[in-house]
Amino acid sequence: MPTIPPNVRGAVITGWGTALPPKVLTNHDLEQTLDTSDHWIVERTGIRERHVGGTTVGLSVESGRKALDMSGVDPATIDALVLATTTPDRTVPASSATVQKELGLRCGAFDLNAACSGFVYGLVQAHGLIAMGAKKILVIGTDTLARITDWDDRNTAILFADGSGAVVLEAVEGEGQLLGWDLDADGSAERFLYSDIGGFIHMDGKEVFRRAVRIMVDSATKSMGHAGCTADEIKLVVPHQANLRIIQAACDRLGIPIERAATVLQHTGNTSSASIPLALADALDNSRVQQGDLVLLVGFGAGMTAASAVLRWGGSTDAPVMM
Ligand code: COA
Repeated sequence: MPTIPPNVRGAVITGWGTALPPKVLTNHDLEQTLDTSDHWIVERTGIRERHVGGTTVGLSVESGRKALDMSGVDPATIDALVLATTTPDRTVPASSATVQKELGLRCGAFDLNAACSGFVYGLVQAHGLIAMGAKKILVIGTDTLARITDWDDRNTAILFADGSGAVVLEAVEGEGQLLGWDLDADGSAERFLYSDIGGFIHMDGKEVFRRAVRIMVDSATKSMGHAGCTADEIKLVVPHQANLRIIQAACDRLGIPIERAATVLQHTGNTSSASIPLALADALDNSRVQQGDLVLLVGFGAGMTAASAVLRWGGSTDAPVMM
């Protein structure tokens, strides 16, 4: 993937928001219907509970509205809506069209499916639109995996859940936040994680685990190379929230202490496109990121896709947001 050319107009995140359905399903709840245990799930994945329910449109509208409110941006001035999702509510139209209407946006809107890497794909895409003249973009990552999960299959039912996270990106004069990025896919690995239309998720957990660590490390290393930074300069890594052991293994290989990783999967499970914005928002809400800090986002998912981005939080200090 190319490095960012000089003098490209950048962007900064000026608002964020999240949404989780109210219904909580704990590991103990799953013990009632599956041959599993809270102990096994926590030990193998780190997950203790997850939220299930709602629709992709409903959750997107909730997180998107919060992000817009926080940024103070008039919805009518948003130039594009990118909705990363692998579980749209309908085949046609795209869920983003309905979200656009519900939020009062007057702009182009499209769904983007890169599975669990979708939010980072969307963020990079949004920066491309900003480089081409857009000024304000809403990027949402939402998935409602509960609808495509076989709740009788203990291989997958312990992992997947529902949620949404959103950010508002605003153009700035100058460098902006994004310093380096990488997008990847390997279609030859699609058989390890897939869901046919109308069907449930099928997964070879061991193979996905093995590949996940490798492709996260590979993608993150490329992004850091493009950004011209090293792992020890990364203040916060926001990984896809699939499994704590995957995060641990990837951090070990990257040389980033696990204490610098943002994790919410203990309470959210794997929410696919929503997982990175949920973890990012949690870290921001808990003041884990200061102006100037380097933040590494890194995801992987079905495809198998991978995506990463290095952001300098706040962007250039002298960069006025364009009106
Ligand atoms: N509860 C209890 N026992 C279970 C179980 C469950 N939910 N699932 C499997 N087991 C059993 C297996 O039958 C096996 O028993 P055995 O040793 O008697 O044969 C044992 O636990 C170990 O199973 P294994 O499949 O080797 O476990 P694992 O350590 O690989 O963990 C996953 C399984 C799914 C948690 C793990 O492989 C994983 O997280 N993979 C990545 C999945 C992922 O991230 N997918 C989304 C990508 S976006």
